[in-house]
Amino acid sequence: MTGQDRRHESEPMTTPAHVAIIMDGNGRWAKARGLPRLAGHRAGVEALRQTVRAAADLGISWLTVYAFSSENWSRPKSEVSDLMGLLRLFIRRDLAELHQNGVRVRTIGDRTGLQPDIAALLNEAETLTAGNSAINLVIAFNYGGRDEIARAVRKIAGQVLAGETELDQITPESVAMALDTSDIPDPDLVIRTSGEQRLSNFLLWQAAYSELIFMSCYWPDFSKGHLVEALEQFAARERRFGGLVARGAAS
Ligand code: IPE
Ligand code: IPE
Ligand code: MG
Repeated sequence: MTGQDRRHESEPMTTPAHVAIIMDGNGRWAKARGLPRLAGHRAGVEALRQTVRAAADLGISWLTVYAFSSENWSRPKSEVSDLMGLLRLFIRRDLAELHQNGVRVRTIGDRTGLQPDIAALLNEAETLTAGNSAINLVIAFNYGGRDEIARAVRKIAGQVLAGETELDQITPESVAMALDTSDIPDPDLVIRTSGEQRLSNFLLWQAAYSELIFMSCYWPDFSKGHLVEALEQFAARERRFGGLVARGAAS
């Protein structure tokens, strides 16, 4: 898995630099098979593994995945605990291989709301892989767009109160710099699986001009073929960013 140097001729010409995915439908995938929801989440982790490989193969530089939202705490305790357990397992089992494959792991979301051992694992993943550059894997965990923006506002208000900045210095650029994604480009493409057509609090600020693609397959069934299909649809889109001239899909 080496990113750019593994392009194939059949791949679309305009590959998005940053693809963000709302990995939805694990529960329904399990229900359709008469299995517990946990089985769906486990299968979802496997789909994530394959998708990281596929994204790197296809020359995508940034892959952000929505793994746990700030609203997912409202699920039954047992499911929340299963999801926390799966994140632990994923980092423990997969970190070495991700590192070997040149994946740089980053996380976005509120760390303060997480159990200390989980926060430590996320730190470990980021630190170990900080020097990698084949692909950036951004894990959105305990993430919510509104929460992220509220934390950014709090940060900026603190700077104003401390006399470090002034009100008229607050601009879209300075707000972007206060978000969890300050050093991450905006997603070019947001994909949501499972047929739901909403953002569910994902990258509200950053997705302002992202192309959105909704796919009907449940997340555990998502494969490289689905990713290629999404990239093909993306390549056919015309992005205007408010102007009159199409800038081409990859901007
Ligand atoms: C996505 O699958 C995984 C998380 C939200 C953590 P869901 O668990 O939302 O599955 P559905 O939407 O109930 O099918
Ligand atoms: C969004 O899916 C969150 C993740 C995929 C982690 P949800 O299943 O939580 O979203 P809603 O509740 O259907 O909007
Ligand atoms: Mg869901």
